[in-house]
Amino acid sequence: MSRHLLRDDDLSPAEQTELLDLAERLRADRHGHRPLAGPASVAVLFDKPSLRTRVSFEVGIAELGGNPVIIDSQGTHFGRGETLGDAAAVLSRYVTAIVMRTFGDDRLAEVAAGASVPVVNALTDGFHPCQLLADLLTVRQRHGATAGVTLAYLGDTGNNMAHSYLLAGATAGMHVRLAGPAGFAPDPAVVTRAGQIAARTGGSVTLTPDAGEAVAGAQVLATDTWTSMGQESDGRERHRAFLPYQLDTKLVAAAGPEVCVLHCLPAHRGEEITDEVIDGPHSAVLDQAENRLHAQKALLSWLLAQRGGAYR
Ligand code: CP
Ligand code: NVA
Repeated sequence: MSRHLLRDDDLSPAEQTELLDLAERLRADRHGHRPLAGPASVAVLFDKPSLRTRVSFEVGIAELGGNPVIIDSQGTHFGRGETLGDAAAVLSRYVTAIVMRTFGDDRLAEVAAGASVPVVNALTDGFHPCQLLADLLTVRQRHGATAGVTLAYLGDTGNNMAHSYLLAGATAGMHVRLAGPAGFAPDPAVVTRAGQIAARTGGSVTLTPDAGEAVAGAQVLATDTWTSMGQESDGRERHRAFLPYQLDTKLVAAAGPEVCVLHCLPAHRGEEITDEVIDGPHSAVLDQAENRLHAQKALLSWLLAQRGGAYR
């Protein structure tokens, strides 16, 4: 059986720590680790647009000694009847792992069910676990640890990033506070699951409609677009609801003095975050984007090691 990363809670706290430790080693020694040399190939499929995910996987797989096979789904048979399960079974005969960005989590589950190699979620409507590995790596870089650190996420609390902050943050022992408007709440099942994980790791989960309450004393502030991929048509109405949660210098000043600001990018400057904040002294967004590369190299190495290889 292959291990997959379909959502953030597929990793136990100990596994998440092991993976982040490996990512730090790969960041320090970028070209000295080539477990995919041969080369082994990795398929990276996109049903949605991407810059960071696409390039960081392509570069990362090459740096691991492997061969990235990037597939835009418009060029496949998915739209004309080939099932995702059949495609995953076929791809498994060619490649060592399958990475996929898609819409519903059910689509990714179908790929995982058909695959006989590890499957990685490169963003779905529900979760963005690769991004969270990079975010946690950035928190370690800025604060030396994740456990006990308070992170406040503002804005669209019903989207993939909010769900991933809940699950991955709780797994990391963080105090995760979410602030957003009514009508954009996270999936209650994800909140419950995050609470259960936090009870074991010493973290906590708090939901509030009050942005000021969420950011008070926080060491990490995070936000994301108010209009995720696929939601473009209802942008105007969303804008009105989210405006009180714009990450501006006033909210940054209300956080802890050493606060770092995260945004997975792409940013909509002047909407969820102001220029002053994203370009300001607390912003860690470029380190965060770079960390996608190191985190995903660690993830692929680690998943393949679960199948009997060695990554050390
Ligand atoms: N953060 C992120 O996933 O960016 P892309 O959509 O450009 O891949
Ligand atoms: N929530 C955003 C994240 C982009 C990386 C989206 O799904 O579009």
